[in-house]
Amino acid sequence: MRDDLKKWMEGEGERVLKQVGIKTGQIILDFGCGSGNYSLPIAKIIGDKGKLFALDKNGTDLDKLTQRAREGKLNNIKIIKTKGELILPFKDEFFDVVVLYDVLHFYYFSFDERKKLLKEVYRVLKQDSFLSVYPEHMGLEEIKREIEDVNFYLKRKYLKRLIHEDSYTKGYILNFGKKFS
Ligand SMILES: C[S@@+](CC[C@H](N)C(=O)[O-])C[C@H]1O[C@@H](n2cnc3c(N)ncnc32)[C@H](O)[C@@H]1O
Repeated sequence: MRDDLKKWMEGEGERVLKQVGIKTGQIILDFGCGSGNYSLPIAKIIGDKGKLFALDKNGTDLDKLTQRAREGKLNNIKIIKTKGELILPFKDEFFDVVVLYDVLHFYYFSFDERKKLLKEVYRVLKQDSFLSVYPEHMGLEEIKREIEDVNFYLKRKYLKRLIHEDSYTKGYILNFGKKFS
């Protein structure tokens, strides 16, 4: 394992994710989880009382995540393989947190698709909850505006050392709450 990823997996990931608001017992959706560089530390933080739904369309990455979760003895992760559909298979107001880390960008979605996904994220989030976004490959202001357009407001912005494609990089985590007007 590369040095950065090793450090991240051995505790730094948990430390950072706690700082951005991940807590014991939460029910969380990691949409576009990949092989789990964020899912695994999240699962450790939320513990047995929490549940992480790790969703992706890439079966190879999900197989890796399954293997890593098994090695880490993490039993609180439900892995969901989709065909890439933007309608989320969850009831309204189900999650305490939805994370969109390095996924909400033009490489995967058109403007209209991002909007559709964000509306779904709004629907599945509880009232007192948050959407956590790690924007990559898109301007911070642009993504903020798109998210605010579907009735979220920016709660807090964190500058952190984050893991991106298995290496450390400085990046922002933006947390948004739901507006009700
Ligand atoms: C750059 S990776 C980021 C992985 C992980 N969130 C991280 O930060 O390490 C983006 C992931 O989003 C997934 N993805 C893209 N579009 C998707 C869609 N429509 N439905 C589910 N997963 C999607 C890709 O398969 C890929 O695994």
